[in-house]
Formats: sequence, structure tokens, C-alpha cells
Amino acid sequence: MNILQINSSARSTGSASTRLADAIVARVRNSKPEATLVRRDLAAEPHPVLDEATLQALFTPADKRTAEQAARIAQDDALIAQVQAADVIVIGAPMYNFGITVQLKSWFDAIARANVTFKYTENGPVGLLTGKKVYVGLSRGGLHRDGVTDSQVPFLNTMFRFLGMTDVQYVYSEGMGMGPDAVAKAQTLADAEINAILV
Ligand SMILES: Cc1cc2nc3c(=O)[nH]c(=O)nc-3n(C[C@H](O)[C@H](O)[C@H](O)COP(=O)(O)O)c2cc1C
Repeated sequence: MNILQINSSARSTGSASTRLADAIVARVRNSKPEATLVRRDLAAEPHPVLDEATLQALFTPADKRTAEQAARIAQDDALIAQVQAADVIVIGAPMYNFGITVQLKSWFDAIARANVTFKYTENGPVGLLTGKKVYVGLSRGGLHRDGVTDSQVPFLNTMFRFLGMTDVQYVYSEGMGMGPDAVAKAQTLADAEINAILV
């Protein structure tokens, strides 16, 4: 079993979502000690945004790319290879302004590649990243679970489904900005959810 952990907080220390992702990974490894782990921290090692130069590189045939364009596409290829190799994907996802962070958006922008991780057919899009289990640790300052202000989970569900990942489990740490009691309560609830994960 191969585990891929993606931390997408802008903070490389003290992050509640990374704490969740670490705890989920520990839980999985407890059941599957032989599992390998690849860990990418997008704060410590950011992935570049999808800008005009990147789009030009993507739409240039591989054998016509400049060295700079090839190097940029190789960065995306590396993230795609990590996802393809993973059986279990664990993502730490903080809420920033009701959505995911730019770090996580850049990761999705890198791994969503036509005819590699999804394809269009006469029946619509088909995701090619199948057979994977996804866990997402969500951290929020306030309370949004199952409410209209949660723009993260609907987006993540759409994105994962589009890419072929249909087995997705969310663990929440909410109320991170609501004082120490709320933080302690959220961590207790999250730990119980993580302990209940069946691998
Ligand atoms: C730039 C920024 C924007 C935020 N936006 C929201 C928000 O829209 N709703 C919310 O409930 N919390 C918001 N928060 C609080 C974070 O979701 C909360 O601090 C969370 O724990 C951050 O994740 P992390 O600890 O993994 O870094 C925001 C925090 C930051 C730094």
C-alpha cells in the first residue's frame, strides 16, 4: 500500500489540518505497517500556480517545448505520478475565505490533466484516478459543516469525482478560532472519528 499525504496549509508549523492529516496517516499505518508514505508539504515546498507561461507550456507538444517549458511540465508530471502511485491519499485542507487554499488549488491544477487523469467521452467526463481511498482533514476557524457557507466540501467532492476518486472521507476540526474549549472539543471529536477509521 502506498500513502500520499498532501499538506495544504500556508503554515508549515502549528497547522490544525496538518495535525489531522498526520493523525489519519498514523491510523492507516497502524493497520498497515508495511505501507509506504510520500509526504508533500505545499507550504514548505510550494507548487507554482497555473499562469500564462504554464498554459503555453501545456499546450505546446512535448517535443517542441523549450527547456524551461519542459521543466515546468515536469513539476506537474511529478505530482501526477505521486497520485497515480498512491492507494490512499490523505489531504490536510484548511478553510481560507470559505474555500480551499491556493496551495491546494495549485495541486489540483497540476494533477487534472486531460487524457492522463481524466478524459472526455461521448457520455461526458471519465476520471482515470480510480481505486483510491481519499481522506481529507478539514480545519476551520468557525462552524460550517453541512451548511451553505461550506464551499470546500462541494468543490472537493466535484473535483475528486471528476478525477475518478469516489471513496472520500472527511474529518473535521471546526471552531479553531472560537477559543481553547472549542479547539479541545473539536480535537476530541476528530480523534474519535480518526480512531474509528477502518483500513
Ligand atoms: C487567510 C485566512 C482565511 C481564513 N478564512 C476562514 C473562513 O473563511 N472561515 C473560517 O471558518 N475560518 C477561516 N480561517 C481560519 C482557518 O480556517 C483556521 O485557522 C484553520 O485552523 C487554518 O488551518 P491550519 O490550522 O491548518 O493552518 C481563515 C484563516 C486564514 C489565515
